[in-house]
Amino acid sequence: MPQEVHPAGSLKQHTIWQDGQMPEPCTVVIFGATGDLTQRKLLPTLAHLFHDHPLPEGFSVVAFARRPMNDEQWRGLALDSINKYMPDNDKLDSDAQRAFAQRMYYCQSDFNDREGYQKLADILDKLDREKGTEGNRMYYLATPPTLDSEIIFQLGGAGLARPSGHNGDEESWRRIVIEKPFGRDLASAKKLNREIARVFRENQTYRIDHYMGKETVQNLLAFRFANGIFEPLWNQKYIDHVQIVVAESLGIGSRAEYYEESGAIRDMIQNHIMQVLCLTTMEAPVSFDADSIRDEKVKVMRAIPLLLAEDAAKRTVRGQYTAGVINGQPQVGYKEEKGVSPDSQTETYVALKLFIENWRWADVPFYIRTGKALPKRSTEMTIQFKRVPHMLYKPSETKGLVPNRLTIRIQPDDGISLKFAAKVPGAARHLSDVDMNFSYTEAFGIESPDAYERLIADCMIGDSTLFIRRDEVETSWRVVDSIINAWKNTPESAVHPYKAGSWGPPEADALIQNDGREWDNP
Ligand SMILES: NC(=O)c1ccc[n+]([C@@H]2O[C@H](COP(=O)([O-])OP(=O)(O)OC[C@H]3O[C@@H](n4cnc5c(N)ncnc54)[C@H](OP(=O)(O)O)[C@@H]3O)[C@@H](O)[C@H]2O)c1
Repeated sequence: MPQEVHPAGSLKQHTIWQDGQMPEPCTVVIFGATGDLTQRKLLPTLAHLFHDHPLPEGFSVVAFARRPMNDEQWRGLALDSINKYMPDNDKLDSDAQRAFAQRMYYCQSDFNDREGYQKLADILDKLDREKGTEGNRMYYLATPPTLDSEIIFQLGGAGLARPSGHNGDEESWRRIVIEKPFGRDLASAKKLNREIARVFRENQTYRIDHYMGKETVQNLLAFRFANGIFEPLWNQKYIDHVQIVVAESLGIGSRAEYYEESGAIRDMIQNHIMQVLCLTTMEAPVSFDADSIRDEKVKVMRAIPLLLAEDAAKRTVRGQYTAGVINGQPQVGYKEEKGVSPDSQTETYVALKLFIENWRWADVPFYIRTGKALPKRSTEMTIQFKRVPHMLYKPSETKGLVPNRLTIRIQPDDGISLKFAAKVPGAARHLSDVDMNFSYTEAFGIESPDAYERLIADCMIGDSTLFIRRDEVETSWRVVDSIINAWKNTPESAVHPYKAGSWGPPEADALIQNDGREWDNP
């Protein structure tokens, strides 16, 4: 049973445990513990969770990795990363560091070595006996995706996936967290899903998309379903179109190997953007339980028509950055990045026009953009409402006025603003746009939890609402595969160059301008 939070717990910034509960004692096993994700994100997140939120006695972390190390060496390495990557205002003092280090253990093994999993089982059993972790385990695969199947298979073989108990009465839980990318197309995602299902049940499987852990993304549900004024307008009668932009101001850095295989469509659209699109457009779920929300998301994705090859050039634009300047800093072109083939055709930018064919959204275009090396890092969504049916003001009085726009900023500067027309003071009847603004930080005066912290805490407590279900992944790949296939079959939808530091290729401007609309740049 989940336990009550200790009143003495040091809740500094926000509560992370839902309804004042905290999880049962458990061990988090990290596969790929020496990798970038673990060092930069998982270790600082676990340390923060441990220090700032009450965790059950006995909570332990086991690193599973191949480099020869003992517990002490691992603790030293982990503390170095925690010190390096935790934000300055969150740094742990030496007592807290020591206390966290005492919860960490190391299991050295290659992922395909059967004996390593037996060694892991022994460590976990010992922790159950000595620390009271009660057989509860979260396996976090922070590993190259090509190795996921092997680890899952080995966990099954070592009997580590089945919860302990007798005659179907489960006395413990075992959950597996799997990072993106989840497959590279529909066929590989289905294969991976089948491999998981041979070892773990769906309710043990937590496919992570860290966008779902962001407060502003979750706030989309509150905004839509806890306010009476917007939902009646949230349909094709009143909305002209929707824009979603996920812009990054960096190039690919040292991730050429991954990015050459993935490109912008697999890296961003199949997962993060599809999730944001679903939460923005889905029907109200019958309740907040995980399946009700996920059922509604899947219905949205099923209503997106597959892209036909003959529409590829009209509905999509691919781009690749060339050398330029971003915020005063020089940026080399994609083809010059270390590890990128000089004749690479990988897209670092995509613009799309999508439709959702259902009663709510018929004929409303969704314009989607994502790219690297753009002028600014920003994720936001603009809902543009239709113009008034008859404008009483003269064109000279409404010059430059845009229709009502609701902008939901996911990062940075999380918040919501509504643009509307107001009269400029004075005798003339001139109108101008003004903004009504809500900022998360200003309104609540507290920091939002980090997305990984939210998701790890939810997994510990067994709430899979913010994780991606098997059919969601597959339905999303169905749409994305159709776009990739349409590109393969239409040489005229080529990859267009754009200068680093610009908002993308001119062809992307034409995509929206041909419909008499403009991008709303962050
Ligand atoms: N990094 C990010 O910001 C980020 C963001 C979102 C999602 N992800 C996803 O998270 C996962 C991990 O990414 P990453 O960037 O952390 O990768 P990474 O830096 O390449 O780390 C991979 C880890 O796997 C270990 N490993 C590889 N082969 C192994 C083997 N045969 N046996 C034992 N250990 C082995 C490596 O150990 P050695 O150190 O011994 O090589 C290392 O600890 C990937 O699926 C990635 O797509 C990463």
